[in-house]
Amino acid sequence: MRTQVAIIGAGPSGLLLGQLLYKAGIDNIIIEQRSADYVLGRIRAGVLEQVTVDLLKKAGADKRMNEEGLPHDGIELLFKGKRHRIDLHGLTGGKRVMVYGQTEVTRDLMEVRAEEGLTTVYEASNVQPVDFESDRPKVRYEKDGQVHEIECDFIAGCDGFHGICRASAPQDKIKTFEKVYPFGWLGLLSDTPPVSHELIYANTERGFALCSQRSATRSRYYLQVPLTDKVEDWSDEAFWEELKKRLDPEARANLVTGPSLEKSIAPLRSFVTEPMRFGRMFLAGDAAHIVPPTGAKGLNLAASDVGYLSQAFTEYYQDQSEAGIDRYSEQCLRRVWKAERFSWWMTSMLHNFPNEGEFNTKVQEAELDYIVHSEAGSTSLAENYVGLPLV
Ligand code: APR
Ligand code: PHB
Repeated sequence: MRTQVAIIGAGPSGLLLGQLLYKAGIDNIIIEQRSADYVLGRIRAGVLEQVTVDLLKKAGADKRMNEEGLPHDGIELLFKGKRHRIDLHGLTGGKRVMVYGQTEVTRDLMEVRAEEGLTTVYEASNVQPVDFESDRPKVRYEKDGQVHEIECDFIAGCDGFHGICRASAPQDKIKTFEKVYPFGWLGLLSDTPPVSHELIYANTERGFALCSQRSATRSRYYLQVPLTDKVEDWSDEAFWEELKKRLDPEARANLVTGPSLEKSIAPLRSFVTEPMRFGRMFLAGDAAHIVPPTGAKGLNLAASDVGYLSQAFTEYYQDQSEAGIDRYSEQCLRRVWKAERFSWWMTSMLHNFPNEGEFNTKVQEAELDYIVHSEAGSTSLAENYVGLPLV
């Protein structure tokens, strides 16, 4: 088999890249180790920047998002028992975010890919990017007991944090940066109306809480928990009781509880790989970087990476120019580090750090007080939350 771009991984990065390339007339095959249903079983953040919305439109995968997505003009910060609104729309000259789950984005991308009849190999095992430092890279994999090989011009490593592409990069040419936080997020999805029409990010002495949503009838809530906690330790009742304790009286009174559809614990981590290109292999999305979910940047960074990458491949094939592919890593990393900074900052300001003492708590409260009462402070938060412009 031969294609122009072999994409490893059918998460949002790989699927969006495949669609953008197809629209630009560039052949691609996706090789994924899991089944489509497994990929769709993962529940992740759901706040889309305008840049991501625009790319989904370019990919032809925006129909359901336009019908069902919820545009949000603000968020709320809760601290010292009171909520304060950040007017994203007013502070950024009319920008907003779209609340639409990552699972839905993935499903929509899978559907348009299937409609166009493009090839995705699911349940491939032993996937290997090979010869990517030569002019003739290949992807090898096994399926139904047979070894297959795809010859290509380029490999896109869209295979997430645990993927094979970053692990296959020459170790003397790669540098990684990492910060692990001493807590996780316990998430609960339920068919209950959201507690408030905007998202609430809460700093409380019992730890962080987030009230998010998927639709007018489906909510997503999170609680900061110690890394030693297990999902089995948390009954639905215990979750709702703890969430109530972390909310203000009005939200507590409005909270509608119900059985969980899903509950899981995710550790929080910041991680960056430099560079994001190794010869003819390019890393994108979680394969190259992880952000803690506090700023909702994970999916948005994945989208901007593949936006740059599809542009670079388009320049290569249409204009015979390598300028785009040569610029790719540096261009992505400038944006990645700004999102890393923002996500680290939101995480630092909103969580309870068990070993940092009361001084830290007082500084957090002063910072939150500054953010909500200073136009410069709230504008900085708003500008980053809605997404910095592409460079
Ligand atoms: N071979 C083939 N596929 C692989 C391999 C491999 N060796 N290893 C992993 N994969 C697949 C995974 O099964 C998964 O479907 O690659 C896909 C990677 O998808 P994601 O982990 O969702 O990563 P990405 O597409 O970059 O999406 C980033 O996910 O974690 C969130 O916050 C993050 O929203 C962001 C998004
Ligand atoms: C979510 O809805 O899952 C979500 C929203 C905002 C975040 C993180 C997660 O910052």
